[in-house]
Amino acid sequence: MRKKLVVGNWKMHGNRASNALLLAGLKELGPWSAQVAVCVPFPYITETALALTGQQVQYGAQDCSAHEQGAYTGEVSSAMLADLGCRYAIVGHSERRAYHREGDQLVADKAKAALAHGVTPIVCVGETLEEREAGRTEEVVKRQLAAVVHTLTHCIGEIVVAYEPVWAIGTGRTATPEQAQAVHALLRQQLRAATQKAEQMQILYGGSVKPDNAAELFRQPDIDGGLIGGASLKAADFAAICRAAG
Ligand code: 13P
Repeated sequence: MRKKLVVGNWKMHGNRASNALLLAGLKELGPWSAQVAVCVPFPYITETALALTGQQVQYGAQDCSAHEQGAYTGEVSSAMLADLGCRYAIVGHSERRAYHREGDQLVADKAKAALAHGVTPIVCVGETLEEREAGRTEEVVKRQLAAVVHTLTHCIGEIVVAYEPVWAIGTGRTATPEQAQAVHALLRQQLRAATQKAEQMQILYGGSVKPDNAAELFRQPDIDGGLIGGASLKAADFAAICRAAG
């Protein structure tokens, strides 16, 4: 039986004061039986770590460099994330693919760099509305995942996958549980061909997950939790989603 995982992706939101309130709220509302984590902006990792001391909630980053170290101004290495105790790093989020032109191979290299330092990459895949309407969902998500499979080879079983249809992110338009389950099943099938660990791997759904739709999404056989954007910024909403996963 796979354990459910709920990850909050704060994106570029918050400040020291609002983060402290949010984390205090989570402390009050937890613990949950699901695994829970928050992926916060780089500058706030240390304070998040301190605020979460002794709690069940884990933390991570929203990106990492594909490089080990060196003259890469503005980049943050996975060794640095590991140094700060990060459990996770999101890689290949559609916002980075779209706004920073990150391609499939770069995303795969970032996942490899994270794993090399014991940071679990949460690898995001997902199609745009145009791609879905053209009937290309399967081709697109499989291509995105294939790059990671080929790059990580025998380590592929160590990652977390997140299916985030681009058209559902921040739009209030959630994939139906059936639509999401269908893609998750495809992804699991692809993982089965690559690793014996496929049945234990967590595949998260992301895209307008809210307290009122979380339970039904999480009931689907191949949906192992969620990657939560907007609703992770409100302690009560995020806590309700974590409860729905329990
Ligand atoms: P929303 O939950 O705000 O739609 O964002 C989803 C997401 O991009 C999580 O990574």
